[in-house]
This record gives sequence, structure tokens and C-alpha cells, in this order.
Amino acid sequence: MTTSNARHAADPTAADPDGPDAAEQQRRETELVERVLAAFADTPDPRLREVLASLITHLHGFIRDVRLTEAEWSAAVGFLTATGHITTDKRQEFILLSDVLGASMQTVAVNSPARGTATEATVFGPFFVDGAPLIAAGGDIAQGAKGIPCHVSGRVIDTAGAPIAGARLEVWEADADGFYDVQYAEGPTTGRAHLFSAADGSYDFWAVQPSSYPIPADGPVGALLGATGRHPYRPAHLHFMVTAPGYRTLVTHIFVPGSEYLDSDAVFGVKDSLVVPFTDHEPGEAFGRVLDQPWSSATFEIVLAPETRGEQP
Ligand code: BEZ
Ligand code: FE
Repeated sequence: MTTSNARHAADPTAADPDGPDAAEQQRRETELVERVLAAFADTPDPRLREVLASLITHLHGFIRDVRLTEAEWSAAVGFLTATGHITTDKRQEFILLSDVLGASMQTVAVNSPARGTATEATVFGPFFVDGAPLIAAGGDIAQGAKGIPCHVSGRVIDTAGAPIAGARLEVWEADADGFYDVQYAEGPTTGRAHLFSAADGSYDFWAVQPSSYPIPADGPVGALLGATGRHPYRPAHLHFMVTAPGYRTLVTHIFVPGSEYLDSDAVFGVKDSLVVPFTDHEPGEAFGRVLDQPWSSATFEIVLAPETRGEQP
């Protein structure tokens, strides 16, 4: 990130006997914004027209507000170019950038407004994989992932408290070392699966106790975090995506109480309502398993909001 004192030279309010006067500078800058807005004014798609007009207004407002220098503009182009270069079908650095800027969570906030008792949504993240294995009720999503066994259970219900049968739950998590299966060069599918809620809305599965972990920080987004004195860590969590016909799709997590970074999640995903009880247990028999090591359990009631007309599922 480059900053420069050169911004003062471009500041229309700074005294510069050879520069344009402040009123003339203002006029030129405003006239340019208006010319750019006019160039897009006949965009046929009304939504694209609206989005572009707002983008141009804010972008020009930002450039004028910070008196962006040419060196800074060039650094920004270099940063975005590097973000593109590191992006592959396995690594999405632009989403990561959106995440650390809070733009992903702002988009979640705009699109998942508070709806009564419905469970709150949070960031999707880059580690969901379509086609994770199906497990039966009480099955194990860990499939060898390193970590202390953790039993997760609850019910899927609607905002009136009625059970939702046959809801599809996609669940995924990092292992005790803080890595998702897809972050290993090769290896089996671990720490992810899907299952369905029973007739009474109940669900349960085995997983591993969630761990905190750093988001990928070896690229431009990591450099941005470093330059701004921010850490890359997320608090311990387990991801859910829950779908059922007639209901809004819920993308959310549960967080472990007391986990480090709950107050400073690198991607701003924590909501108090998603920090749910986790209990530690001694070895013994539990939920159809005989455990020779300590284990934990968590409960999470999932409340789905009804789909409203005109909304995407
Ligand atoms: C995740 O929780 O999987 C995640 C979310 C945002 C950025 C990186 C990872
Ligand atoms: Fe995660």
C-alpha cells in the first residue's frame, strides 16, 4: 500500500499559486462525474443502470474524497491484478477480499434482513463443496478428520415452531489443525456431508470439535491484512447450509463459546445468536458410539424463514 504526500498537491483547498482555483477545480471534477453518469444513462437494463450510476457516484466520490494520487491508483491496479493472478478454480482471492473488507457480510445483511425468530445468516466462505456425501441420521461427517469427536443435534423448525421434515442440511468444517479437506494437496473427503431432518424436524450427526484457523493469507489479501495490522484468523465454527421447499435457504455457522477471535473474526461473520452451547464430556458411551477419549456436544435449533414471493430461493 502506497501513500504519498503528493495528495496535498492535488488538494483543491491547498494554496497553490500556479494551480487552478478551488472553485474551478470543483467544477471540473463535478463536470467529469456528470459526463460519466450521462455516458451510462441510456443503459437499457434498469437495474444495471441503477447499479452503475451509484457505483460511479461513489467511486468518483471516493477518489475525490481521499484525493487519490496517481501512485496510489497504480498500486490499486497492481493489487487487483495480483488478486486476479492468484485466483484459480480452487482459490477465489476476490471473494476473500470481499470477506476481509466486510462486503460479503454487508451483502448478507442486505439480503437476509431480520425475520422474526429466523436463524441469522452469515458468510458462505470459499470451502463449500457441492456433492458432499450423504450420511444417515447420527452419521459421522468427520470420516477421519483430525479432532475430538463432537455430537451436533437440534431441530429444523419454521418461525411458528412447527417442525420441517426433510430439510437438507449441508455441513462442513476444518479439522483440528485448521484445514479443510480441500486445502490438502490430495486426500479423501473429510469434515463435510449432507443429511436430512426427520419427520419431527430433528437432526443429529457426529463431527469434530471446531477449531479456529487462519484464512489463506499468502496472497494479496494476506498482504493487505499485514499492512493494516490485522490478523487472518476466524473463531472456531461449523458451517451449515439448510434448504427446504417453501423456505429461504439459510447459510450460517455455529460458533464455539469462548473461542479465540470471536471478537475479531477476520471476515466479520460472528453474530451473538450463532454462538451456541458446547459441552465437554468424559470418555464413555454416547449416541450409539463408545468413546475412549473426551468428546463434546452442541445443540442448534435452526429456524427457517418462509420464502416470500419474488425472492430467490
Ligand atoms: C470460512 O469460514 O470457511 C471462510 C470464510 C471466509 C473466508 C475464508 C474462509
Ligand atoms: Fe470456515
